[in-house]
Amino acid sequence: MTDDDLESVLTIEEQVYTHPWSRTILRDCLRTGYECLVYEASREILAYSVVSVAAGEAHLLNLSVHPQHQGKGLGRLVLRRVIRHAGEKADTLFLEVRVSNQVARQLYESEGFNEIGQRFNYYPAKKGREDALVFARPLL
Ligand SMILES: CC(C)(COP(=O)(O)OP(=O)(O)OC[C@H]1O[C@@H](n2cnc3c(N)ncnc32)[C@H](O)[C@@H]1OP(=O)(O)O)[C@@H](O)C(=O)NCCC(=O)NCCS
Repeated sequence: MTDDDLESVLTIEEQVYTHPWSRTILRDCLRTGYECLVYEASREILAYSVVSVAAGEAHLLNLSVHPQHQGKGLGRLVLRRVIRHAGEKADTLFLEVRVSNQVARQLYESEGFNEIGQRFNYYPAKKGREDALVFARPLL
């Protein structure tokens, strides 16, 4: 992902989340040196991921697929790429997911992630707050 991709990434971000990341957050991820990947086909961005790595731990902070291209295996493809990449630098890959996000939960469980905890009222929601489940996957 580069600065030139931010417009397309933001367009997807705003379609797939009730509380999307802002341009500033995405730009900060690039500046900070997080691993920001895009999946492109015919020069169109269809999916992206953001991972931070520190002290042997990797955190998947964002995984998103264009709404018109969901359910075709792209999420799994990008996630596998993230796992391979993170495995070069970290022992464990962590992530948080909304309790209500069954699609993502199924994907993560089927790719070897285990539920290791719950963060109460972690996410803003349409009404109030929503809990996050914390997942971890060994990379070694
Ligand atoms: C979650 C997300 C990344 C998954 O990517 P995707 O490309 O749609 O998913 P895939 O086609 O790779 O499918 C992977 C698995 O997800 C689950 N899944 C996908 N679509 C599903 C649906 N409509 N209903 C239920 N489960 C579904 C299945 O377990 C599927 O595995 P299978 O094909 O072997 O059955 C994508 O849907 C997305 O961007 N959602 C909005 C943003 C989001 O919630 N990101 C995750 C934040 S933690």
